[in-house]
Amino acid sequence: MKEKFEKLEKEQFETINSDPRRLQYHLMPPVGWLNDPNGLCQKDGIYHIFYQYSPDDPDGKTKCWGHYSSKDLKHFKQEDIALYPDSEMDKDGAYSGSAFIKDGTIHFFYTGNIKFPGNYDYIYEGRGHYVNGFESQDGFTFTNKHTILKNADYPSDMSCHVRDPKIYEEDGIFYMVLGGRDRHDKGMILIFESADLQNWAFKEKITTPYDFGYMWECPDLFKIDDQLVLITCPQGVDQDGYKFENVYQNGYFKVEGTLKDGIRLGEFTELDPGFDFYAPQSFEDEKNRRILFGWMGIPDADYTNPTVQRGWQHALTLPRELHFKNGKLYQYPVKEVLSLKADCEKMASEPGKLYSVNEAAYICLDKLPDEFVINYRNDCQMAYKDGLFTFSLGQSGYGRSVRHIEAKKIHSLEIFSDNSSIELFLNKGEYALTSRIYDETGKPSLSIDQECELTICKMNPYQIDWKQ
Ligand code: FRU
Repeated sequence: MKEKFEKLEKEQFETINSDPRRLQYHLMPPVGWLNDPNGLCQKDGIYHIFYQYSPDDPDGKTKCWGHYSSKDLKHFKQEDIALYPDSEMDKDGAYSGSAFIKDGTIHFFYTGNIKFPGNYDYIYEGRGHYVNGFESQDGFTFTNKHTILKNADYPSDMSCHVRDPKIYEEDGIFYMVLGGRDRHDKGMILIFESADLQNWAFKEKITTPYDFGYMWECPDLFKIDDQLVLITCPQGVDQDGYKFENVYQNGYFKVEGTLKDGIRLGEFTELDPGFDFYAPQSFEDEKNRRILFGWMGIPDADYTNPTVQRGWQHALTLPRELHFKNGKLYQYPVKEVLSLKADCEKMASEPGKLYSVNEAAYICLDKLPDEFVINYRNDCQMAYKDGLFTFSLGQSGYGRSVRHIEAKKIHSLEIFSDNSSIELFLNKGEYALTSRIYDETGKPSLSIDQECELTICKMNPYQIDWKQ
């Protein structure tokens, strides 16, 4: 598999990388498909960003762990594929997982997806979802993988869908959260506990007392600014007014209590209701920042991404630093991203005037009035009125038209725009909205119908040391 995939990367990289829709300051698959960020960590100053990667198919076939390393989150190096689904414990996919550093060792945990041969539905029968592990001292060389939990270790009323391990430590005890679907199609997380990161015992199931989807993917439990938070991606939640407009959701529960004595889920808030945000994962870096990357895509979305024809699909979001304040989780690009800004011009906006911006750009609109309409690029509109923010795309949405955020006040809007992506941060991170955008390439323009403080910068590209 290794030889075949490395050959594919070599053969296809140049053609794929000449696509004008390739991004300048986001991480993409070198070739083929990317989904969830995995195994995020920083060890000895070096950031490791692994991700679900299928070099053999832009629609995602064989799930491996791709790998980028970086010293400063601006220069990246494409590393060898770290994990292949090449054994009985993960033969149908080295699915998502995470990293946990203890006493100088990185402990990786991931889901081995196994489809047993036979006539099965693969939901309730026929699928193995194992927790497998491997370790590393340096983030570049890895021990052999081994199986930690099998389906028989999960409660007997679970379906075969139990995956995406993430570790949280409280008072010297380790807790593993796993996303799951039970046999009655209720989404939940399972919690296992361990004193040594090797031996794990089932502790409890955590879910909502009300219906909230049939499956929860990619749980991430952590404490931030003294608040315990559980991020997860529920599938099967119905749209509710302007909430939950995507096929699958992402968001966080405020969590009360302690792991030792029991936790309860509070209210659920969407993290990013844009067209393309899913499976976020956070980690604490060596500066004690909690940084989150998301997958800038979503599973089973009913549109065709035009980059598939060019042999690649999807990207990761910008790394976002998290904080909990005013009762909410705030997300805002890390300062390394902000330092990519160049040639900034600050001015008072002239209503109706067309401003020309770079394809890779940062735009900040401050001191916004209670109502505004911004037209951007070919047919992207951002409007705010009566407490409702509307993000809409015309043809550049490829069939995706409109998403909303209900916000009492918007005083600031920041746009991080790249060749085929757009990430919005409202009120300095109180709200975020992420979308891919497929308009004609060239110099985009921006106009606003109101007076505000306007800053336009170009964004310098990431420097990526490709293997080819
Ligand atoms: C989320 C997800 C995870 C799974 C992985 C497989 O996008 O479905 O639950 O581990 O993708 O690629």
